[in-house]
Amino acid sequence: MSEDEIMALLSRWDRQQEGYIEQREERFKVMFDVIESVLGGSFTAIDAACGPGSLSKRLLDRFPQAHVIAVDADVMLLELARVSLAHYGERAQVIEADLGLSSWSEKVLAAAQAANVDTPSVLLSTTALHWLMPGELAEFYGAAGDLLKPGGMVMNGDHMRFDSRLPTPRQVAKQVREKVEQETVALGEDDWASWWLKAEKIPRLKKLKVERDARYAARQPKRKNSGEDCPVDFHVASLRHAGFTEAGTIWQYFDNYIVFGRKPLSDE
Ligand SMILES: C[S@@+](CC[C@H](N)C(=O)[O-])C[C@H]1O[C@@H](n2cnc3c(N)ncnc32)[C@H](O)[C@@H]1O
Repeated sequence: MSEDEIMALLSRWDRQQEGYIEQREERFKVMFDVIESVLGGSFTAIDAACGPGSLSKRLLDRFPQAHVIAVDADVMLLELARVSLAHYGERAQVIEADLGLSSWSEKVLAAAQAANVDTPSVLLSTTALHWLMPGELAEFYGAAGDLLKPGGMVMNGDHMRFDSRLPTPRQVAKQVREKVEQETVALGEDDWASWWLKAEKIPRLKKLKVERDARYAARQPKRKNSGEDCPVDFHVASLRHAGFTEAGTIWQYFDNYIVFGRKPLSDE
């Protein structure tokens, strides 16, 4: 796999994702502005469901003293993340874990210890936790609450669809989203399916693509996109229940939110 092919695929990933989340860069920036203000520049972050590492890369560039533990379950995207983050050396650990299983937090802690970095102070996630079932999501926030340092924060940027209580914004959000998706494709960018077709044509990724497809097929229909209709209130209530005494939203564009939680500074 040549460096150029990977870089082209990674950059196509970003543009493909922007077809679904037009404000993706703004969402990253808001998260990083919070981190800068609350934690300063030296901390360990978790990039939960990192994909090919877009968030980790931006975070490591903005905070040269920071460390990231990037976690995902997709073997092909993890390979891309490893390549993309390789030049950050020890500052980036890329690990495989299923965030729907309780073992993910032990794996993150083990990675932090092996790399001799601080316990994580912040968990970030973008466009991913809708893959978890509501019960799994609540457990995931619970494990994050146990894992993070006192005063630690969670920021989850994702679509949290308006439910039947808000039919008008639900319809508007859907129309706006579809328009951006169509415009992106009309500009020659990929949608989700065509990006994966390009990826599997790269010889080194082909086998990994087959493996990830088999794993995803095994977990359908139970889990595929099942949390997508989880409204924002559920996220906020789950964070509170998990011990994040500050819990709420800090950014929103229609049904695209950043949900924020912060633990108390003392565990007592
Ligand atoms: C749309 S991608 C977003 C990737 C990245 N966060 C970004 O913003 O570019 C969704 C990611 O969630 C990951 N994912 C879905 N379910 C997961 C699970 N149970 N455990 C770990 N990762 C998961 C997928 O493998 C994929 O990388």
